[in-house]
Amino acid sequence: ISFNSARFLISAPRLEDCPPDIGAEVAFAGRSNAGKSSAMNAITANGKLARTSKTPGRTRLINFFSLNREHARLVDLPGYGYAKVSRDMKDDWQKHLGQYLNQRQCLRGLVLVMDIRHPLTEFDQMMVEWCEHNKLPLMILATKADKLKFGQAKTAMLEIAKKLKAFSCVEHLIMFSSTSKRGVDECRSALTDWLED
Ligand code: GTP
Ligand code: MG
Repeated sequence: ISFNSARFLISAPRLEDCPPDIGAEVAFAGRSNAGKSSAMNAITANGKLARTSKTPGRTRLINFFSLNREHARLVDLPGYGYAKVSRDMKDDWQKHLGQYLNQRQCLRGLVLVMDIRHPLTEFDQMMVEWCEHNKLPLMILATKADKLKFGQAKTAMLEIAKKLKAFSCVEHLIMFSSTSKRGVDECRSALTDWLED
């Protein structure tokens, strides 16, 4: 699989609008503003692929990107924990996110993107537990590592690893930065394993 040839496929507001449930898909989840879209752009070496923003809550739909292999896709999920939207909209998101996660047969794994400075929020932990319960392989990207000194980043990684020790769904824990491209190669090779399997 070559990630450089990723292309925007479709935005789906609801499960019914998603592309046919065939092939293999890996979805990126995480707190709003954590850096999901930026991570996808770094992985695909395409700064314009997924829209990024300083304003949290930018990604409101489920966005699908196709890769060069037929029916292999990356999926940008709406960020959770965005405070400024109305209660109804929040419920709506959670419903659609939940439906996607629960019903999507072609989902091979989940990439949980978290800011290395604010790891394992309550919602992140819920996602980890969900993956564990549903036996879905999980990759954790501790991103924005460029914001910390290397020693601090290392310490943060050790703490995250310690907290996740009991979860067998966690297949990869990667120190990442969309800015410096740290961890991009490791992430690509893990994604390739999941998608080609
Ligand atoms: P939503 O779509 O709102 O859920 O956010 P998101 O998780 O897609 O975050 P996005 O990629 O839009 O990034 C949010 C902000 O963080 C932007 O201002 C990015 O430029 C910045 N950012 C993302 N990744 C990194 C990183 O690795 N290092 C640094 N320094 N900034 C980053
Ligand atoms: Mg986004």
